[in-house]
Amino acid sequence: MALVGPDPLLNSKPWRVMLEDLRDERAAGVRFPPGETRVSLARTRRFANDPLPMLLEAYERYGPIFTLRIFHSNVVFMLGPAANHYMTVSHASNFVWRESHFRDLIGLMGDGLLTIDGDFHRRSRRIMLPAFHRERIVAAAETVTAEVERALERLRPGARLDLYAWTRQLAVRVAMRALFGVDPDGEAARAIDAAALFERALSFYASEYVLRVLRGRYSPWASMQRAARTLDGLIYAEISRRRATGERGEDILSLLLDASDEDGNTLSDLQIRDEVMTLLFAGHDTTTSTVSFMFYELARNPHVTERLLAEQDELLVDGRPTAQQLAAGELRQLEMVLEETLRKYPPAWIGPRRALESFEFEGHTVPARAFVNYCSWASHHLRDVFAEPERFLPERFAPEAAARLPKGAYVPFGGGSRTCIGMRFGQLEVRAIATMILSRATLELPRDFELAIRQMPTISPKHGLPVIVRPRAARSARAARAPATAATAPTAHPRPTPAAI
Ligand code: HEM
Repeated sequence: MALVGPDPLLNSKPWRVMLEDLRDERAAGVRFPPGETRVSLARTRRFANDPLPMLLEAYERYGPIFTLRIFHSNVVFMLGPAANHYMTVSHASNFVWRESHFRDLIGLMGDGLLTIDGDFHRRSRRIMLPAFHRERIVAAAETVTAEVERALERLRPGARLDLYAWTRQLAVRVAMRALFGVDPDGEAARAIDAAALFERALSFYASEYVLRVLRGRYSPWASMQRAARTLDGLIYAEISRRRATGERGEDILSLLLDASDEDGNTLSDLQIRDEVMTLLFAGHDTTTSTVSFMFYELARNPHVTERLLAEQDELLVDGRPTAQQLAAGELRQLEMVLEETLRKYPPAWIGPRRALESFEFEGHTVPARAFVNYCSWASHHLRDVFAEPERFLPERFAPEAAARLPKGAYVPFGGGSRTCIGMRFGQLEVRAIATMILSRATLELPRDFELAIRQMPTISPKHGLPVIVRPRAARSARAARAPATAATAPTAHPRPTPAAI
């Protein structure tokens, strides 16, 4: 298996790409599955702004496979447990990512793990896997908690802040240090605001579809490219520093620098840049959304927060989680809250693909070259699979209840050979951030806050997550307020008082 990447895509010529799509569609020898296939800007805009209700309505009307024309092309959606399993596991080899409906992401990521297919994907994944082994994740826990500790200094009682922006800054620092061994306080990193640059680059994917095909100087594309080039400066500087010094660690950058195939080919600087950019993006954006959605739900469900605090009283020493607790998800109540957060708000909400060959699913034929998406967000909201899907009910993930879920029902990390490579790392990071915030503070939402969700391209709170920081209530005060939930095991190690925030 060679380390030779795919040919470049025609990102600079979007109109030509669209024409090719239309040509492919016209050449399809079979009809698309039922749905709404007339051109409609209103539908395209609704899909960009509020896709979930639209997909659920289509599911009610047409069943688990249907077609919607989004912008210029037909897109097939496959929803539900059987569809998710079909696309990610049993028939995954009939689908490619690179030519999917989300191929614009290549404009930022390049040819990193997320957007490549076939042998090059398998080979690249194999090179990087050692960095995600369990022992490496446990070893990263210390870096993660040190960064969280540092960020918590800004969570002073009475402070108001945007938890989404706070988490993005934290998660970018964590990704730099833990994944790439780059010092976020070093000269090159300090010269730029990487979190803000990612925010700017990613806003391309929140812009209107019609604007995304523009390539002029003031277009969203040009703005994304400018942000990406500034981030590139940091990545290339670290690549050349490592090449020049020969410095290696146990990070992913070291694995990529030393990788070679049977013919002695090594990865070029551009290929390494693409992997690093992909992991920096995927490694911070999803965790940022997850933390934000989790604290949104906790603020609205104080009885759930209460269970988490009782669990902390029981299991944490001095309010700090151990590496083992974080890596293994030993705080069971927190685990259920995390799983329910990822059910209701799976950040990587869509699995975009293109079919290589024509195929049949549930009695419908899908032509070769069709855009086909699975969708965890909609699949996690199907009433026939998750009762009362709009409610935040962590008890759905109590072990006996979770064991009853059908195969493919719950796919926040995708599945099969493209299952999220950073799953363990992401889980550990969210657990660490959540545990350490909860052990110091209670976060309240402003009274008038209403959640709106955007896709950029992962889902996140559209207007950030404004919170007001309150000291964590002492155990005795909580017990007086909520005697029913205070009946947990006694605290083995009393925590410091709220002044420790
Ligand atoms: C809560 C956190 C996370 C969630 C919910 C999540 C979700 C996902 C999902 C659903 C996919 C599959 C997408 C598809 O089928 O098209 C995926 C793939 C991927 N994720 Fe994550 N992710 C998370 C954290 C991370 C982290 C921390 C990293 C890196 C350190 C990461 C790196 C990747 C990469 C590189 C892929 C592509 C894998 C491949 O195609 O082989 N993710 N992620």
